[in-house]
Amino acid sequence: MAKLDGKVAVITGASSGIGEATAETLAAEGAAVVVAARREDRLNDLVGRIEGDGGRVLPVACDVTDEEQAHALIQGAKDELGSVDILVNNAGVMQLSKIEKGLSDEWRTMFDVNVMGLLYVTDAAVQVMKEQGSGHLVNISSVAGRKTRPGVGVYSGTKFAVNAISEALRQELIEDNVRVTMIEPGAVETELPNHITDEEAKEGIDALYQLDDILQAEDIANAIAYCVTQPPRVSINEVLIRPTQQAN
Ligand SMILES: NC(=O)c1ccc[n+]([C@@H]2O[C@H](COP(=O)([O-])OP(=O)(O)OC[C@H]3O[C@@H](n4cnc5c(N)ncnc54)[C@H](OP(=O)(O)O)[C@@H]3O)[C@@H](O)[C@H]2O)c1
Repeated sequence: MAKLDGKVAVITGASSGIGEATAETLAAEGAAVVVAARREDRLNDLVGRIEGDGGRVLPVACDVTDEEQAHALIQGAKDELGSVDILVNNAGVMQLSKIEKGLSDEWRTMFDVNVMGLLYVTDAAVQVMKEQGSGHLVNISSVAGRKTRPGVGVYSGTKFAVNAISEALRQELIEDNVRVTMIEPGAVETELPNHITDEEAKEGIDALYQLDDILQAEDIANAIAYCVTQPPRVSINEVLIRPTQQAN
């Protein structure tokens, strides 16, 4: 019997990168996975692969910045699959620039997706998990959620917020038997840096993303799988994971 047989895992931002790899990994561990993102074509490719490997998967087109869509994602998972045992809050954007550049549309997008989107989906999931008397929230933060530097301030701000929200949730949900884990990756080879528009910030981040042996999405997926397959008494609160060659 696979470790997550009978469990339902909802993964946001599952159309690429860490979310996509996490969906495949948790499905391989036996979970029925609900894969959510805006790009439906990418979700459909993922569905084909998971079903081809014998997994159970439900795709949901969802923009997490829309509170109604975020709530409907969780309600749909419960209605279709019976429970929400694991929520991986992974959807995120990183548009780096120095604050003096004043790219306020990008600041808003990052806070809307990385913080408000996470809160909307979490809000709905917590209600379901409290009724069930169990659950596991996995919030994808970042090394940037622990420390910041020039050009990374606003993105860091969103991830510092994710860490604060995660720790408060952990304490608030102890009586409800809901575990909370924050995952803090360093550089992972994904599409994430492609959305940076500021040339100076792009150059600043190049060295990090051109490391010889950068982390792969499946490395983070494996860490998540480890956290959600521990016995009920074990709550892994925080996982900080860098490429071996990443200094800061
Ligand atoms: N890559 C890294 O180096 C790194 C390091 C630390 C932390 N992280 C974090 O890891 C998480 C995943 O990023 P990634 O590296 O895997 O990058 P990615 O490949 O760009 O994936 C980001 C995912 O977020 C989704 N997304 C963006 N806006 C959304 C919205 N409004 N509604 C729903 N989904 C949305 C995207 O899907 P659609 O565009 O299809 O909606 C995509 O599936 C993010 O939270 C990121 O901050 C990444």
